[in-house]
Amino acid sequence: MAAGKGTRMKSKLPKVLHLLAGRALLKHVVDTAAELSARQVIVITGHGAAEVEAALAGKSGGAGPFDLDFVRQELQLGTGHAVQQVLPVLRDDGVVVILSGDVPLIRADTLQQLIAACAGNKLALLTIDFADPTGYGRIQRRGEAVQAIVEQKDASAEQRAINEVYSGMMALPARQLKQWLARLDRNNAQGEYYLTGIVKFAVADGVEVVAHKITDALQVAGVNSPLQLAELERACQRRTALELMEQGVRLADPARLDVRGVLQCGADVSIDVNCVFEGQVTLADDVRIGANCVISNASIGAGAVIHAFSHIEGGTPGSKDFIEVGAGSLVGPYARLRPGARLGAEVHIGNFVEVKNSSLARGAKANHLAYLGDTTVGERVNFGAGSITANYDGANKHRTVIEADVHIGSNCVLIAPLTVGAGGTVGGGSTLSKDTPPGALSVARARQVSIPNWKRPKKNK
Ligand code: UD1
Ligand code: CA
Repeated sequence: MAAGKGTRMKSKLPKVLHLLAGRALLKHVVDTAAELSARQVIVITGHGAAEVEAALAGKSGGAGPFDLDFVRQELQLGTGHAVQQVLPVLRDDGVVVILSGDVPLIRADTLQQLIAACAGNKLALLTIDFADPTGYGRIQRRGEAVQAIVEQKDASAEQRAINEVYSGMMALPARQLKQWLARLDRNNAQGEYYLTGIVKFAVADGVEVVAHKITDALQVAGVNSPLQLAELERACQRRTALELMEQGVRLADPARLDVRGVLQCGADVSIDVNCVFEGQVTLADDVRIGANCVISNASIGAGAVIHAFSHIEGGTPGSKDFIEVGAGSLVGPYARLRPGARLGAEVHIGNFVEVKNSSLARGAKANHLAYLGDTTVGERVNFGAGSITANYDGANKHRTVIEADVHIGSNCVLIAPLTVGAGGTVGGGSTLSKDTPPGALSVARARQVSIPNWKRPKKNK
């Protein structure tokens, strides 16, 4: 169910598209359905339907492991009415699991247990005890047997005292769901078609109703406001941090880590405070990440050190924009690696150095205040402080090739397209616009003039 407006989010964006740990709320739910090996996922959209459909279809690309269908609920007449919209596309056999697009942290193993409780022929409700059950549907039992779900607004004082509530998730046979949905009415306090009304029909039809009760409130927590979203984000990040630490990753502070995607770590990885990881990031064995780094879509090789305040912003995994940092490399502090930066082993990138769409071979160094764009840098090259490649002529970008063992002095401008021959040296302050031969010293700046015994002008009286 993803038709609701999410009024309290006070946002143009449909609620279920807000991001949690870098993924849309609804995407979390759909990904969990994929983990259950669902053969069909039907998303009920309403508010912002086109946007929700586009966001999801784009990402799953039809290549998912299930059929993804969308149905629209034009008017929101209740949860029962929402589920009625799926009937035209729902198959007759099998088990249906009903989930909410704004309850993102439900776990696949919990849903497996719910499906097991359904056993192909029962109505299984996911429930939880809340000290304060206000607002939720209450699980009404006679003895142990579940009799009904009573909504807050329809509940008597006695019923409101029940602490066991319906989470909004259930599993049941498709065949039964179809029959029961047809029997719903709107005779209740809110004039809505309550999905929860089907519990009474199950009881009347002699179908067993089972409550699968869990204790982890996080799994049933919904997002209705920016505050709730932020709270779930923290909880979700804490879950990730604890998982990483269980694998042996040393986090300086599990409360100061943000993973907005997938972070894979080898052995003996350590991560200082306030780092943000986005997209797909891999840290090989013995990698150290300093404080306040932002790292997106990158693979960091064994033993590499990313010093504090570095920004590594790679593009899509598998594309040329993904970033690679070789084993034993040193990056930062204050370094910036942009899409397509590929560092070989033992490369050093120092403070205020920007690298874009460039490869640096083993042992190359650019330690201070430099820009390398569209450049191929050979082994052991030393790229001096303040030097840059001028890769853009105002209309097109061109490549610079710096062959192995070149030494580029400080404050040079290499105007692309350009090749600096192997083993060459470029004098500080040079502006090169022509290729240089291997082994040559190239100097391209005005010759120094020193006038002896120079008298400085004197101030007029
Ligand atoms: C519902 C349950 C309640 C349960 C609670 C758990 C009903 C009648 N009540 O209450 O027993 O304790 O969830 O959170 O089901 N939605 C639609 N179309 C609609 C109405 C709702 O798609 O016409 C979607 C909402 O966007 C949301 C979900 O269904 O994702 C639940 O709707 P909500 O209004 O939050 O249900 P509650 O009244 O809280
Ligand atoms: Ca709700």
